Amino acid sequence: MTTPEPVPLWLYGGSGLLAGELLRLLEAHPALQLAAAVSRKAEKADAEALHPHLASRPAPAAVEDAQKALETQLARGGRAAVVFALPHGQAAAAWSALRARLGAAAERVAVVDLSADYRLRDPQRFAATYGGPHGDLSELPQFVYGLPELHRAKLRGARRVAAPGCFATAMQLAAVPAARAEVLDAKAPWILYGITGSSGSGAEPKPGTHHPYRNNNFWAYSLDGHRHEAELEQALEEYGVRAPLHFVAHSAPLTRGIHLTAALPLARPLTTAQARAIYTEIFSGEPFVEVLESGVPEIRRVAGSNRACLGVSVRGSVLHVLVAIDNIVKGGSGQALQCLNLMLGFPETWGLPRSGLGVC
Ligand SMILES: NC(=O)c1ccc[n+]([C@@H]2O[C@H](COP(=O)([O-])OP(=O)(O)OC[C@H]3O[C@@H](n4cnc5c(N)ncnc54)[C@H](OP(=O)(O)O)[C@@H]3O)[C@@H](O)[C@H]2O)c1
Repeated sequence: MTTPEPVPLWLYGGSGLLAGELLRLLEAHPALQLAAAVSRKAEKADAEALHPHLASRPAPAAVEDAQKALETQLARGGRAAVVFALPHGQAAAAWSALRARLGAAAERVAVVDLSADYRLRDPQRFAATYGGPHGDLSELPQFVYGLPELHRAKLRGARRVAAPGCFATAMQLAAVPAARAEVLDAKAPWILYGITGSSGSGAEPKPGTHHPYRNNNFWAYSLDGHRHEAELEQALEEYGVRAPLHFVAHSAPLTRGIHLTAALPLARPLTTAQARAIYTEIFSGEPFVEVLESGVPEIRRVAGSNRACLGVSVRGSVLHVLVAIDNIVKGGSGQALQCLNLMLGFPETWGLPRSGLGVC
């Protein structure tokens, strides 16, 4: 394939963790070019302070300057991509303001939102999950859910994509194949335990990410339900499945990574080989999903990569599916880039590492 015309990308939330990771990945992308790392801190922070790990040292751009440049690009008739790596609630506010400003030209912008703002299609489910009405209701139906392994056809050429949550990515890769194959008992509880690293909480220091309390420590949270369960519920509905989900999250002394253990009740006897065959079939040909023949998924295999590593086994009447991903790559910026590749007609794997760091 000859290298296509570059598409400029405006990245909002420029100083955040996911922004830093997307900027790193963009350095190796043949056709997506950073137009602006849009940051509220543009006046105060220079490139060095923003993301010192990046060799390309992208300078932060002020919101107004970046938006003017985007308008100019669109006035020239060019394409553009926008990624929102903003906190929940801020992305919908930013996109609705930007849309109003761009008018009809907004239709030519490929938008990926990394926040939770456009992930849930049903406004009632959104309100119940996030504690209030949606801030940009009319735009909600425009968004396609951005998990390529389950929604690739809809993502090709899509204009608006809501990238899934990091826990939600692992949960869906674990549970949807078996649900789709109709081998699970939807009356018994589906138990999912997810463990996350501190980068899941963003760049700002918080009590739960402060090193003396996080390092060598471990705790559970969201015992009464985690917001990402709603994304799995939504995914299962596509296959007519409603099951009692019990997801419990844990904070682990890791920086990157999610490890999920799903214990799913079987509706009928199944061997490990039969169960694994369901997963290898559904994920056959997937560039970023590896179903292990032996051994167990480990964070070090996937950290720094866009790969999800799965282990499948059956014990008695329970199917165990283990998933390891890097929350800020496959669970965040890598997935956003995978979606952008599909949206813009680029090869899906462009700019995305498949090998993990090995040590992390
Ligand atoms: N971390 C993960 O593992 C992960 C995975 C999947 C999805 N997500 C979601 O992706 C989004 C970005 O995550 P992140 O981890 O990169 O977060 P983050 O490190 O906290 O970065 C968010 C950035 O948004 C900007 N911002 C704009 N308005 C803000 C406001 N009112 N309050 C605070 N910050 C504001 C800030 O950048 P400027 O000051 O430079 O403008 C901030 O650095 C979040 O919605 C998060 O839930 C995170």
